[in-house]
Amino acid sequence: MTTEPHLFVIFGATGDLNRRKLLPALYEITQQENAPDFAILGTSRSKLSDKDFDKLVRESLVEFAGVSKKDADHWLEGKLHYQSLTQENDPYEELVKRVHALEKEHKLKGNTVYYLSLPPQVFPKVIEGLGKSGANDGDGWTRLVVEKPFGQDLASAKTLNDLVHSHFKEDQVYRIDHYLGKETVQNMLAFRFANSLFEPLWNRDRIDRVEITVAESLGVEERAGYYDKSGALRDMIQNHLTQLLTVIGMDVPAGFNANAIRAEKLKVLKAIRPLQDEDIIYAQYAEGETNGKKVKGYLKEDGVDTKSKTPTYVAARLHIDNWRWQGVPFYLRTGKRLESKLTEIAIVFHCAPISLFEGGADGDPATGNGVPQDVLRINVAPEQGVEMLFNIKKPGQGMILQRQRLAFDYDEVFGKLPDAYTALLFDVMEGDRTLFVGADEVEASWEIYDPVLNREHEMHTYPSGSWGPTKAREFIEDWETGGE
Ligand SMILES: NC(=O)c1ccc[n+]([C@@H]2O[C@H](COP(=O)([O-])OP(=O)(O)OC[C@H]3O[C@@H](n4cnc5c(N)ncnc54)[C@H](OP(=O)(O)O)[C@@H]3O)[C@@H](O)[C@H]2O)c1
Repeated sequence: MTTEPHLFVIFGATGDLNRRKLLPALYEITQQENAPDFAILGTSRSKLSDKDFDKLVRESLVEFAGVSKKDADHWLEGKLHYQSLTQENDPYEELVKRVHALEKEHKLKGNTVYYLSLPPQVFPKVIEGLGKSGANDGDGWTRLVVEKPFGQDLASAKTLNDLVHSHFKEDQVYRIDHYLGKETVQNMLAFRFANSLFEPLWNRDRIDRVEITVAESLGVEERAGYYDKSGALRDMIQNHLTQLLTVIGMDVPAGFNANAIRAEKLKVLKAIRPLQDEDIIYAQYAEGETNGKKVKGYLKEDGVDTKSKTPTYVAARLHIDNWRWQGVPFYLRTGKRLESKLTEIAIVFHCAPISLFEGGADGDPATGNGVPQDVLRINVAPEQGVEMLFNIKKPGQGMILQRQRLAFDYDEVFGKLPDAYTALLFDVMEGDRTLFVGADEVEASWEIYDPVLNREHEMHTYPSGSWGPTKAREFIEDWETGGE
């Protein structure tokens, strides 16, 4: 695939995501060999001139991409533009006119990316505005990138998909889940499908359970207003953790292309049993200590309703009703204000069918009682790589077992990895939709969680700086602690 010249239009150009992630990613892309030819048009309601926007871009590159001031000052010279959305008459018509004019000016062949880095409640207005104003009438291609969250439940996701499809074809749409752009997650496809070693083990005959964990040490910070209406289930589990599940759970695709991969991801989503109350635990962080600092509980955070029932921690047990996974629970857990930041996937294998050994103490609770299970651990962040945890004989008298690791670490081999947004934005420019989420996937994912979304539920608490509520540790037989 190759990239063609295009105009990259960023809605939400003054926002946090654009400044911290999109602009640094676009900068990185221009540093690659055969860098694509593009110009940028930023837009939002703020009244900025082209010159103000130019300054915002260059300052963002220095602050968030570590680019020197000199390099930032010369980046995409003459190719940074801005248009505010405040005109009295139809702002989208004005915008699309400007898009077409800039495409002519920079000889971009009428190709356009529209990136919606906007508060989700604004998506419908902008999609409709673009559709009605002839965004699709350029001489080249038009692509629409939509940030998360895509809907708040099944009904709203369907409504949003219907609206998108009334103005754009599905193959023009790129729904972002930035977890899919992480190198370690993309590596799962290589790991599973480029090695013949694992596929015969990748099923209920050999695997006891799968645990997917995304732990954050931060609290809600400045996002309290948004977060209190969303919470861990909507903000993390339904999208990021469920997408990680699909990469682990999917069958071997017919080919390495977007359609084949997305078809298999969809099949696994469709096979997941809709969630029941007994398969989910909710909790909120209470006061505690993180990084040596005392912090307040969720209900005392500014912008959070003091009687809020929004979970900051969710642990869910999913069952996949297909031949590969019948009887293998997939545990998904995520929380804010946990002890440390960590994203990992643990594939826990069955115990040996007959135990010849008594196990061995060695200070590791998992080895204290019987022989520990083998674990394949995929480290997504902050460590990045793959580890196999297995049993060895500890040297010395007696047959004392000890768990050891066989590890591959990305940092050691390749140094710093590209940010997920760099990979995803480049894919948008190339027109490769493999790592983006399809309309049917989004809806199938909401279908899993819809039954419990608006139900009354028990709310547990956990001290800030801990590993979550005790109840969740009873619920998930943690591979590391052996459930203790
Ligand atoms: N920040 C992150 O790390 C992050 C990570 C993952 C996903 N996301 C997603 O990315 C999107 C943007 O997040 P953000 O953190 O950048 O939000 P943000 O900092 O609040 O920025 C929102 C942007 O949208 C513009 N905007 C707001 N209302 C608008 C309207 N009615 N019409 C046109 N423009 C409008 C704002 O500018 P004006 O006020 O000038 O219009 C601003 O540029 C959200 O969907 C979020 O869920 C963010």
